[in-house]
Amino acid sequence: MSVPPGIDTDRRRLRDSFAGAMRDPDAFGRTFYARLFALAPSARALFPDALETQQQKLVHALHVLIKGLDNPEPLEPLLRQLGARHVAYGAQAAHYVLVGEALIDTLNQLGEAPLDPEVRAAWSRFFGWVAAAMLDGAEHAQRRARAEARSGPPTLPLPLPQIS
Ligand code: HEM
Repeated sequence: MSVPPGIDTDRRRLRDSFAGAMRDPDAFGRTFYARLFALAPSARALFPDALETQQQKLVHALHVLIKGLDNPEPLEPLLRQLGARHVAYGAQAAHYVLVGEALIDTLNQLGEAPLDPEVRAAWSRFFGWVAAAMLDGAEHAQRRARAEARSGPPTLPLPLPQIS
């Protein structure tokens, strides 16, 4: 298990800038997806037409991550599971870079002041760790699915054990 690099120094920077930009969570969600789809128009088709629920889910996930920064180790398996689910959503490695960019742009735009270089670097380090854990989970899920496809459907051990 790993923790985000530099987290002891970055924790306060991440929390303060997050709180500043999250004063209106709906605006955060709207701004984030508008920016993401400006950077990656083809990603729009991966999402449902109505985005409100998705915006809320993303905002919620970010809150959970920022809240968990006091003890980040348990976040890693959650991120790996989230990444594994994203395989079916059609998320690709290149999208993660753009999601990170859209996130930092949103924090920059909605915060009380533009992000200073240390805060920006803190978010890059933190998001790098988030994306690495999600992509690792995605890769494992894909490898498992390929191995299962090769070995065929699971079979029952025969003879079946007696159930008394
Ligand atoms: C910081 C990284 C990310 C976070 C925290 C995040 C968070 C979430 C969450 C919480 C959900 C709700 C469903 C679930 O929990 O499984 C979700 C769904 C989804 N995400 Fe992400 N995501 C991230 C990166 C990405 C990337 C890189 C893409 C690629 C474009 C993406 C595309 C999607 C799609 C298409 C859905 C499903 C929408 C639907 O059909 O309802 N996400 N994401």
